[in-house]
Amino acid sequence: MMLVQSPNVSVQPSTTTINEDEHLVIGGIDTVELAEKFGTPLWIMDEQTILDSIKAFKEGLAGYPNHQILYAGKAFLCTAICHLIKKQGLGLDVVSPGELATARAAGFPAEIIFMHGNNKSAAEIEEGLALGNVNIVIDNESELLMVAEIAQRLGKMVRVFLRVIPGVEPDTHVHIVTGHAESKFGFALEALIPLVQRIQSFDGALQLVGLHAHIGSQSHDLEPYFEISEILADCYKELLDSFQIELPELDIGGGLGIAYTDADKPTSIYEWAKKTSEQVAKSFKQRGLALPKLLVEPGRTIVGTAGVTLYRAGHKKRLPSGVTYLAVDGGMADNPRPITYDAKYTACIANRMRAPIPDKPLGLVGKFCESGDIIIKESYLSAETGDLIAVFGTGAYNLSMASNYNRTPRPACVLVAGGKADIIVERETNEDLLKLDRVPDRLR
Ligand code: LLP
Repeated sequence: MMLVQSPNVSVQPSTTTINEDEHLVIGGIDTVELAEKFGTPLWIMDEQTILDSIKAFKEGLAGYPNHQILYAGKAFLCTAICHLIKKQGLGLDVVSPGELATARAAGFPAEIIFMHGNNKSAAEIEEGLALGNVNIVIDNESELLMVAEIAQRLGKMVRVFLRVIPGVEPDTHVHIVTGHAESKFGFALEALIPLVQRIQSFDGALQLVGLHAHIGSQSHDLEPYFEISEILADCYKELLDSFQIELPELDIGGGLGIAYTDADKPTSIYEWAKKTSEQVAKSFKQRGLALPKLLVEPGRTIVGTAGVTLYRAGHKKRLPSGVTYLAVDGGMADNPRPITYDAKYTACIANRMRAPIPDKPLGLVGKFCESGDIIIKESYLSAETGDLIAVFGTGAYNLSMASNYNRTPRPACVLVAGGKADIIVERETNEDLLKLDRVPDRLR
């Protein structure tokens, strides 16, 4: 078998090296120089790692006749990444007017934009349709009626998918499971037949293209995907038997995990794409069904491993209990995942990569006003005030979930490639924070 590099099994980006100064190098650039030039905290995205991840999906899916990779923009979206994704021929999942506006700014082709979400507004749907033939993934019945009404009013035939709850759960944090029976996303499987009857009653306003399921996020295993292939193939068979319709496409969502620490052993991207698509083919063939075009929606695996956050270490203190804390100049506002999901991370001292590993760990903490603002509870780093700390695996759901907590401007983001760094998101300033403030006259 050809060896395909799948970045999601490594903690560090594909281009990671150490130079003669013992500095961490990403994308051919010394991170110490990046910190000096762009300041800290700094989000770094390694372009090569993103490309390697995309390649691993493409190669894993190559044996399946007709497929499309859709990047789930919620993991990390800005205009430059949209351009990169478009250039690679990927489609795009959007879940908000802001993500749609970003797709529009990058000139993303409408036919491969998929609009998700459990509470899309009429205005949002109309904005999407104004771009062209976007795909709408319908979450609930009232949305179905809304989209049908809009389609009829605009005289358009709208491509829709129905999001179903497959009743399959990956082994992951409870907040990021979506495939379970009580999920707020999607329709129960039992609703399928009446829904299709409903769609048919709209006289061609809606074109039902396929079913969609997404079981959850940061799943390491293949098994849940094999299960949804079977469940969805049953649904396609039921639709064929009941209505003589063969839906042309099938969207099995995203959710494959990445390694945040050496203890994490996710299925590789290549293996996931290959085995899952093989299972889909098997499930459909076994039921005598034609193979639908297969859509997958990875988010984290495309950008997660590519991201590294650089922080400057500030005050260090040792408590009488023996615990040592080292505080950095960022934390939960630029990475809310530890406090939200108890997520684990791996760090290094970017300016002293060969520093000795201490016997005792230190708590790498953020600077925000929450006791839970701890980036890594026990980190074996002999780091001191002034050191540059790099945290790996921050490419997904960091920038996209960042906040201005404690009135803190968000960091800049640079894309590195071949020894060059380009800003793709500017650092916010205090002026940016103040610019939306208004003071009623009576308070002046
Ligand atoms: N498709 C749908 C319909 C989704 O809801 C999601 C993620 C994806 C695809 C992409 O999933 P991925 O491949 O990235 O796992 N904020 C959480 C993750 C929430 C994921 C929400 N949906 C975190 O930081 O872990």
